[in-house]
Amino acid sequence: MTFLYHGLEARGAVWAEIFAARVPDLPFLRWGQDSVDPAQVRWLAAWNAPAEFIAQFPNLEVLFSVGAGIDQLPLDALPPQVRVVRMVEQGIITGMAEYVAMACLALHRDLPFFITEQRAGRWTYRHTRLAADTRVGVMGLGELGKAALEMLKPLGFPLSGWSRSAHSIEGVECFAGAKGFDAFLAQVGIAVCLLPLTPETRGILCRETFDKMPRGSAVVNAGRGGHLVADDLIVALDSGQLRAAMIDVTVPEPLPEGHPFFSHPAIFLTPHVAAETRHGSAGEVLADNVLRLLAGEPLLGEVDRTRGY
Ligand code: NAP
Ligand code: GLV
Repeated sequence: MTFLYHGLEARGAVWAEIFAARVPDLPFLRWGQDSVDPAQVRWLAAWNAPAEFIAQFPNLEVLFSVGAGIDQLPLDALPPQVRVVRMVEQGIITGMAEYVAMACLALHRDLPFFITEQRAGRWTYRHTRLAADTRVGVMGLGELGKAALEMLKPLGFPLSGWSRSAHSIEGVECFAGAKGFDAFLAQVGIAVCLLPLTPETRGILCRETFDKMPRGSAVVNAGRGGHLVADDLIVALDSGQLRAAMIDVTVPEPLPEGHPFFSHPAIFLTPHVAAETRHGSAGEVLADNVLRLLAGEPLLGEVDRTRGY
């Protein structure tokens, strides 16, 4: 029985050390470095390994995502009995909360506009508002959405949240399900997408959604590129329905040269860096989960494959 890791060499080196200390009896193998007997592989950790790669392990029982999301893995090709586990670790959570706080302050204080004016050599006054005047609405109240809201609280933004099931979070007006979506959108000055990508959420940041937000609102997409309809964003920005957007995830990644997101004055683009898996803390979480597996205990971050997240 072996644990196989497929991914960045530097992360593999850190994880091999952690496993040697925490689960010394379990062989931790690194794809491309160690000799692997495919029939022995029961547990696999990967970011976006292709279906053909995963198909070579007939006895696979658990697939661990190296990241918080799992949509990048070929789940449709995975036998139904294989358990899938996402990464729930503090490095990703804190990184995302920081990114959302930065994005909300930057958009709220019109940074895209002031940067455009600076680059053009213009000293242009524009009235500014305080955080208390802009409601931030977070789509997705999971590990990342809740942490982002906590980071935003002391900044003074009125806060809303939207999720599939009903939540109650102190200081946050919570909405749920398709029924709550329009009321959620009607109030938000900045909508932050931190949803998982599923058939229900694909394309959710589209014209219909933007049109339900107050004119001049802004959008942050740090979920997945597939949440956003890129052409609808450009139309909404050019018409003034949206004021600005901060985009961390795209389709495809990387974006091709000349894509309008690179040059649009109202778009801030970052190359999928909102939250990164931290080698050390993620390795400890993975080792904890393996110890749970060995003890027959529930796993942290196990995905409900019927729900898709
Ligand atoms: P999570 O803990 O699984 O939370 C998901 C949240 O989304 C839950 O609150 C869930 O509602 C809600 N949701 C799911 N489907 C929905 C639907 N159809 N309608 C309304 N709400 C829905 O996930 P997480 O750990 O916070 O991560 C969220 C996503 O962030 C990941 O899947 C990944 O795509 C993305 N991500 C991006 C980066 C980056 O660097 N840009 C880094 C890490 C993760 P319930 O609470 O009712 O279940
Ligand atoms: C990054 O995008 C992740 O899913 O952790």
